[in-house]
Amino acid sequence: MSLFDFDKDDAKTRYDVLVADIHRHDALYHRHDNPEITDAAYDALRRELNEIEEKYPEFVTENSPSRTVGAPVADGFSKITHARAMLSLGNAFNENDVIDFIDRVKRFLGTHSDNAIDIFAEQKIDGSSCSLRYENGVLISAATRGDGQVGEDITTNIKTIDNIPQKLPAGAPDVVEVRGEVYMPTASFDALNKAQDAKGDKPFANPRNAAAGSLRQLDSSVTASRNLKFFGYALGDMSAPIADTQMGIRERLSAWGFSVPDPIAVTSDVSGLMDYYERIMVARPDLDYDIDGIVYKVNDLALQERLGFVSRAPRWAIAHKFPAEEAITTIREIIIQVGRTGALTPVAELEPITVGGVVVSRATLHNEDEIVRKDIRVGDKVKIKRAGDVIPKITESIEHMDGSVPFIFPDCCPVCDSEAIREEGDVIRRCQGGLICDAQAVERLKYFVSKNAFDIEGMGDKVIKQFWDEGLIKSPADIFTLETRDKTSLTPIRNKEGWGEQSADKLWDAINKKRDVDLHRFIYALGIRQVGQATAKRLASHYISLSNLRTTLDHDALLEIEDIGPAVATDICAFFHEAHNIDVLDALVEQLNIKNFEAVQTQEGVFTGKVVVITGTLTQMTRAEAKAKLEVAGAKVSGSISAKTDYLIAGEKAGSKLKKAEDLNVTVLSEDVFIDKLT
Ligand code: IVH
Repeated sequence: MSLFDFDKDDAKTRYDVLVADIHRHDALYHRHDNPEITDAAYDALRRELNEIEEKYPEFVTENSPSRTVGAPVADGFSKITHARAMLSLGNAFNENDVIDFIDRVKRFLGTHSDNAIDIFAEQKIDGSSCSLRYENGVLISAATRGDGQVGEDITTNIKTIDNIPQKLPAGAPDVVEVRGEVYMPTASFDALNKAQDAKGDKPFANPRNAAAGSLRQLDSSVTASRNLKFFGYALGDMSAPIADTQMGIRERLSAWGFSVPDPIAVTSDVSGLMDYYERIMVARPDLDYDIDGIVYKVNDLALQERLGFVSRAPRWAIAHKFPAEEAITTIREIIIQVGRTGALTPVAELEPITVGGVVVSRATLHNEDEIVRKDIRVGDKVKIKRAGDVIPKITESIEHMDGSVPFIFPDCCPVCDSEAIREEGDVIRRCQGGLICDAQAVERLKYFVSKNAFDIEGMGDKVIKQFWDEGLIKSPADIFTLETRDKTSLTPIRNKEGWGEQSADKLWDAINKKRDVDLHRFIYALGIRQVGQATAKRLASHYISLSNLRTTLDHDALLEIEDIGPAVATDICAFFHEAHNIDVLDALVEQLNIKNFEAVQTQEGVFTGKVVVITGTLTQMTRAEAKAKLEVAGAKVSGSISAKTDYLIAGEKAGSKLKKAEDLNVTVLSEDVFIDKLT
């Protein structure tokens, strides 16, 4: 046997394992909505399979995953044979793969590489794909992708989705199939999993599985309760063409009343595609649905037709995947952090691993109940998830280490050793050390100088910790006496490691600039429990000056202030009556010029004193802008419609809120009318 044969034998053995594995994972994913491995791990298996097939094409059979799509249909649903196959997409993982894709397209079409070909770029929705068939303008059937040839008949369930038109306007072809993705908005997913948990049912792994599971319900009232949505992005069978380009399809779909992913881009150069990719990746955490990449499609439909497809994927499109946001690693240690209000937060220290392009070595474990619920232990292999810039979290434990024991949450503070108590109904255990707890004191100082509080440039967490450790700052007022003390110090800050004349001067400047402070910022900076920015503002506008607040503070009077309930009032009173806090305040007053509250001048107008709700998509400004403008105009902007609502501002694609407003006889304003009335 030659060495080559030996390699080939090995390759065949590995190939057979891969084929079986991929089929098994396909079934878990497509039929049971219960994948065992991450998408990235699955993609890696497929890549390995492709590499072996490229080297040994003779291994490929009809049964090879590269010749089939998804998984055969499940029992319990009748079958629908797709009039046109529902394809899958090839993957690109980096810029080079995208360049290769465009080169392949040009080579296939015989186009000179310098000639431009327009590419349409769109978000890749991470849901469950399906095909909707309309005949004579009426939705007559809907099918899942299934194996690409035959799918499950989910017509009844699809009809419960409120943003899928049941009818198409006149002018639509006699037969047209609209293809797209059914997905579950993230907020609905979170609510569903909470409900699953409350019922003792297994939570869904992610919104995609939840959407797929909800679509495959034999009882359509279950589907109806799940708030599914649909995005249209392609066409299947059709009796007459409706557009010449992918862009044209999108416009037609939108005109027919379908939701389409937004924004899109059309460009002929790779750098334009990469810009779009980056832009969407940044926006991704703020979307209210999951996407797992970008799909690039040749814009011209005639060219798409010429390009056709190869095995399971079209030549005219490719999916550019985002870096995996999930990964598996090991917990080295579980540490307990103590926060500003004494809350003990468990944090897992991890074997460092790259997730979504960033190296992660810590993840939050939220609270002790979470640890118990997921049975997370030191040494566990765990799945971690990172979305955008938020702190990564551990979603599940995959495997315990031999001999590991359940984690025991401490009942005393790891820093000051005071008792840590969990009050009834609270998920959080808190250190009772209060003012004697160094951890709480340091956290309070960090909070005091943070962005929404004193916002002292150059005084980040590290500097605070350093100055605390050296005994330079023990209480907030010390920040403002530091420069004077430093002048006579034998070890001035400018001589310390990492500092110099200039950086010390800069720090003094930054501190001195903040001696004039607005009352609401000052109140917020105190870090009173349950007093965030909004409450701080309310207190400032009610009491106008700090001395007035300190002398007239009264529990019952606080309850008169909007949004302040008994618990918050109790915390506020407790803070201002505590002896140490009185000292802290006196010391601060000496150092600062706390400016009295000045009401923003609001002009009397249409919106003064009115309750306003915004819904739908605004085209001339962002929602945040509209909200700010309304508030300046004296309105209270609320998130939900009730009989108390005065106006509903309805942007494009306004949905249930608009209906509710109409039912309640609330005055509805279009975006244009709203802007008109503002000025
Ligand atoms: S175009 C030939 N556009 O991703 C298929 N597909 O993983 C042309 N998908 O099978 C599809 N978002 O079900 C297209 N904006 C989008 C998409 C999209 C999600 C799905 C589609 C495809 C799968 C591949």
